[in-house]
Amino acid sequence: MDSWDKLKAECAGCRACALCETRHNLVFGVGREDAEVMFIGEGPGEQEDLKGEPFVGPAGKLLDTMLEIIDLDRNKVYIANMVKCRPPRNRDPQDREQDACSGWLRRQIALVDPKIIVCLGRIAAMGIIDPEFRITREHGQWHERDGRMYMATYHPSALLRDPAKRPEAFEDLRELRSKIRQICRNTY
Ligand code: URA
Repeated sequence: MDSWDKLKAECAGCRACALCETRHNLVFGVGREDAEVMFIGEGPGEQEDLKGEPFVGPAGKLLDTMLEIIDLDRNKVYIANMVKCRPPRNRDPQDREQDACSGWLRRQIALVDPKIIVCLGRIAAMGIIDPEFRITREHGQWHERDGRMYMATYHPSALLRDPAKRPEAFEDLRELRSKIRQICRNTY
């Protein structure tokens, strides 16, 4: 039987890929451990690596704003990443790094047991929903699997780079809020 204590202790010493050699801190995850809504990003950036917490840099500030728009904050949801250690110079995590890390995320998802998983950006959407996922075409669409609802929206970093995408992300958030109202009991 898995537990948060067991998972955190095992994950803390992970050396399954080369990212452990350059990390300052492993970035495990944050939020409510029995959340109904879980957000999954790509991997820690510089600030996250220094602090050991996901989404605390510029993308994290925007994520907090996105959550506020639909009356959420990070204490009501759970936030994790595809990989737990920072890829150097913020490059995309490689497939083998994601593979090496996937067991930790799988166990986190099993322990949180969320009703809704929101993938932030292309990398998480391809890793979690469909390897062929096209974020520009499929963001905001719901996918049901194993009794959970999955959706992807733009990564906050993409919205910082290209503010023209923000209205579409806003629509995704409204869609998320209405799904939460429909199927969640403890989030609002
Ligand atoms: N980008 C991510 O995907 N995750 C973080 O934790 C920070 C930035």
